[in-house]
Amino acid sequence: MNRHHCLERQCGSRFGRSPRWPSEIARNRVGHQGTVVGIDLLPLEPIQGVSFLQGDFTEPEQVTVLKDLLNGKQADVVMSDMAPNISGIPMTDQLRMIALAEQALDFSLAVLQPKGAFVVKLFHGVGFDAFVIKVRQHFVNVRIRKPKASKSQSKEVYLSARNFRAIMRAQ
Ligand SMILES: C[S@@+](CC[C@H](N)C(=O)[O-])C[C@H]1O[C@@H](n2cnc3c(N)ncnc32)[C@H](O)[C@@H]1O
Repeated sequence: MNRHHCLERQCGSRFGRSPRWPSEIARNRVGHQGTVVGIDLLPLEPIQGVSFLQGDFTEPEQVTVLKDLLNGKQADVVMSDMAPNISGIPMTDQLRMIALAEQALDFSLAVLQPKGAFVVKLFHGVGFDAFVIKVRQHFVNVRIRKPKASKSQSKEVYLSARNFRAIMRAQ
């Protein structure tokens, strides 16, 4: 998750973050001055300095609560490691994955500070190219990386986007 450096204003938000390590890394990176907020369907043992919400990120009310946890701050980094529970129907799983990534992108467009960063887990497949094109409209630098730990046949990759073009926010 925090394969991306938390930036100077030390504020990051995260989704799909259990087990613990992504939040702990974010916490360690932003230090105690910083803010780390997270959401997941699954519960999380408390981590000092991490504001965690157990909830469904696809529910608008939960997203509102998550934004409130930022206390009016703009985020430096938005990171999503969310993935749907695999149904075994590849097309269904792919469309659900893209839908989660789209919602994470929409959230990042709403809360990121100019030049902010966005990281999201994705699967190659239907909707992937269109999603990357959309991200490129809002961020100067976009890279796709396959995690070292990922099996060679896995379609899992991480998209990392930097230098948020805040001017594009309204579009
Ligand atoms: C692949 S796991 C990530 C686990 C962890 N970050 C890791 O790398 O070990 C995906 C996580 O996304 C969460 N998730 C999936 N859909 C979600 C949703 N709609 N709202 C919040 N969390 C969601 C799941 O509960 C799960 O914890």
